[in-house]
Amino acid sequence: MTDHVLIFDTTLRDGEQSPGATMTHDEKVEIAEMLDEMGVDIIEAGFPIASEGDFNAVSEIAKRSKTAQICGLSRASFKDIDRCWEAVKHSQRPRIHTFIGTSPLHRAIPNLDMDEMAERIHDCVTHARNLCDNVQWSSMDATRTEWDFLKRTVDIAIKAGATTINIPDTVGYTEPVESAGLIRRLIAEVDSADTVIFSTHCHNDLGMATANSLAAVQGGARQIECTINGLGERAGNTALEEVVMALKVRKDIMPFETKVNTRKIMNISRRVATVSGFPVQFNKAIVGKNAFAHESGIHQDGMLKNRETFEVMRPEDVGLAGTTLPLGKHSGRAALRAKLSVLGFEMGDNELKDVFVRFKDLADRKKEVFDDDLIALVRQNNSEDDRLKLKDLTVICGMNGPQKADMVLEIDGKDHATSATGDGPVDATFNAVKSLFAHDARLQLYQVHAVTEGTDAQATVSVRMEEDGRIATGQSADTDTVVASAKAYINALNRLLVRREKTAPGVDTPEIRYTDAGE
Ligand code: KIV
Ligand code: ZN
Repeated sequence: MTDHVLIFDTTLRDGEQSPGATMTHDEKVEIAEMLDEMGVDIIEAGFPIASEGDFNAVSEIAKRSKTAQICGLSRASFKDIDRCWEAVKHSQRPRIHTFIGTSPLHRAIPNLDMDEMAERIHDCVTHARNLCDNVQWSSMDATRTEWDFLKRTVDIAIKAGATTINIPDTVGYTEPVESAGLIRRLIAEVDSADTVIFSTHCHNDLGMATANSLAAVQGGARQIECTINGLGERAGNTALEEVVMALKVRKDIMPFETKVNTRKIMNISRRVATVSGFPVQFNKAIVGKNAFAHESGIHQDGMLKNRETFEVMRPEDVGLAGTTLPLGKHSGRAALRAKLSVLGFEMGDNELKDVFVRFKDLADRKKEVFDDDLIALVRQNNSEDDRLKLKDLTVICGMNGPQKADMVLEIDGKDHATSATGDGPVDATFNAVKSLFAHDARLQLYQVHAVTEGTDAQATVSVRMEEDGRIATGQSADTDTVVASAKAYINALNRLLVRREKTAPGVDTPEIRYTDAGE
């Protein structure tokens, strides 16, 4: 048994499935490139049958991949598996991942009895194996599946040619001792278990995904399925950065290796937070803003004497630059480029030019521009192709409402102006956008965070909107909270409009959730 643990990243499939975390084609391709570069072994790039968009993204990622295996998800149907193969086959190292829900609750959905399901598993894995020599089979909701049936299905999948057997804790139900025991028992009791890799895939409903994944490795699993920032449905999936750093820091008791370059963690974490619109909680392990911050006197004193007093790993190990001096309005383009590079953002000349203009504008308003300010600046995901652009905004607020917003909005290249009132400045601003660009999108989330300390701090605003089941998230930062709110709202609308076009009748099929068990 090898001591190498394969890292299977499913940010672009299970992570992206999280309501609101939808990413654009280009964003998916970019994240896949970052994952490949950081040394992830397998990238689950999407669910090719779910939509034309998913199919195209998986194909493109497969074509561009350098080292990582590229995997696509398919339900237990020949049609799904064929579509998956069409997308992943462009990779030098393709993998088909097929699954079915094996627990009593999941068996009831396609209404299959145990024998019928066993036959379906045999047929699907055989079919996949005829297309590709790298086939992963998953028993969805394995941790709530009767032991005898789980063992039987795993045995069938192996005999039919599966090369990886994934044992998902789909609803985050297991705990570490049970997680280790389940894998250990399968390896001990299933025929030919030593010819395949066992994999663990944990959800975080009870906050134990990382512990359960590591326990599964102790039980014999040699693949961990995870996502950047733990992105995923409900409470999310196992966080890649947590399992990778735990294996690195506690090698003394977990003698396993991964290929991940941990210094790339922070950068990809920030990028995934931006494109998914899911900000990382401040006290999140490894990648949270406070993960390496030492506020209290006792802690600071201890840290100054010896860092190891309160730190089990160095910030540099996860790609966090040591404290550096803030930039100001006299800082030039070269200084900005150097600072961005330290923060993990390598930019072409045009992109840098654009960021430099925004940086100068910010530096005029804010004496010191800190690393977090720059990160917020770079994160603003506007595009030249945006249909809506905020040209001007003046808001009157105060104790005597209603508050009023005067706005100029460019719509498809033409300026339109209006005044609107509302219950507070943000409400007035959003009403102004609505009166200029009528839409039925519903505001699902409006969140404001201060980027740094001080009253001149920038506010980052995240806005999530929903229209006919399509969800889009927008973000923006500004020293003026209302301006940041307007820009984030408009940004979300722009992204929703792109999505609306992509899912026009005849262009895309409706989204398929993976709980659907196939034909
Ligand atoms: O959680 C789960 O069971 C899954 C499967 C599709 C592998 O994501
Ligand atoms: Zn899952």
